[in-house]
Amino acid sequence: MEEYKKKKILCVGLVCLDIINVVEKYPEEDTDSRCLSQRWQRGGNASNSCTVLSLLGAPCAFMGSLSSGYVADFILEDFQKFHIDVSLVSERALCELPASVVISNINTGSRTILHMNRNLPDVNAEDFSKVDLHQFKWIHWEGRNAAQQVQMIQQVELFNRPLPPQERIMLSVEIEKTREPLYQLFPHGDLVFVSKDVARHFGFQSAGAALKGLYSRVKQGAVLVCAWAEEGADALGPDGVVLHSGAFPPETLVDTLGAGDTFNSAVIYTLSNGGSLQDALTFGCRVAGRKCGFHGYDGIAEMSAL
Ligand code: ADP
Ligand code: FRU
Repeated sequence: MEEYKKKKILCVGLVCLDIINVVEKYPEEDTDSRCLSQRWQRGGNASNSCTVLSLLGAPCAFMGSLSSGYVADFILEDFQKFHIDVSLVSERALCELPASVVISNINTGSRTILHMNRNLPDVNAEDFSKVDLHQFKWIHWEGRNAAQQVQMIQQVELFNRPLPPQERIMLSVEIEKTREPLYQLFPHGDLVFVSKDVARHFGFQSAGAALKGLYSRVKQGAVLVCAWAEEGADALGPDGVVLHSGAFPPETLVDTLGAGDTFNSAVIYTLSNGGSLQDALTFGCRVAGRKCGFHGYDGIAEMSAL
């Protein structure tokens, strides 16, 4: 059991550069205004989730592609600053690093993202087949190149098959974007995060309705979770009971960039430490709410004891 606890959580997905412009007021089109501040930050859902896991005290690793050059060096240094294992990062020297220009409104906490990925490919099932799975207790996929990700998941299922349940690697997937190919991930996680955007795309107006409506898509025994910004989040497992946690709004809403990635990590953190689903949901909302009260992620560090 102690051995298992020491194993890492792996997050597979995007790392990119976020160029964050903090403004007092969202700009009018075709105007020239000043920002309150501007910063570079390592971004991407899986990368942000690693940051939060690490700040909560969970050993973790990131798997994804990275270009070379000074922006990639900035990203790698930042991974190292947060003690995130980058041994599974694939360097693609001839590619450009994806980047997001983010307008972060300090008065509303809103984040408007303009993202560009010119030519950096995602890691694929062949890359994944080289991974030594023994080092992980949990693997989380940010839904991207879904067909390849399904094959990665199948590799883990094969690895898990001969193991007793308590030694198996837990699998989670995030379906955040409203892209048809991502929906094939629904039946492939022990834990599935579905976003408000996807829920709305399917015609649901609340987290609870989305969970009931989408639960038939997940595999037997799986848990489906749906976060709904300031309304908190809901979860539904095999017992058919919809659990809810309200949001924990910070005193002042400052920055919601990565709130969802923070929520996912705090849920995974709790469940991977043996916590209940209700505890995971509540802790997810608590940490994500706290995150919305400051820029970036550093303020999460003191929350692992909450
Ligand atoms: P994202 O848009 O980053 O994916 P979500 O809107 O899904 O994030 O929110 C994830 C979680 O973050 C919510 O369940 C909630 O706990 C917290 N959260 C997000 N926005 C707010 C807010 N305005 N106030 C309080 N908590 C929030
Ligand atoms: C936040 C985020 C940013 C990134 C964008 C990519 O959830 O991961 O860090 O720029 O989303 O869609």
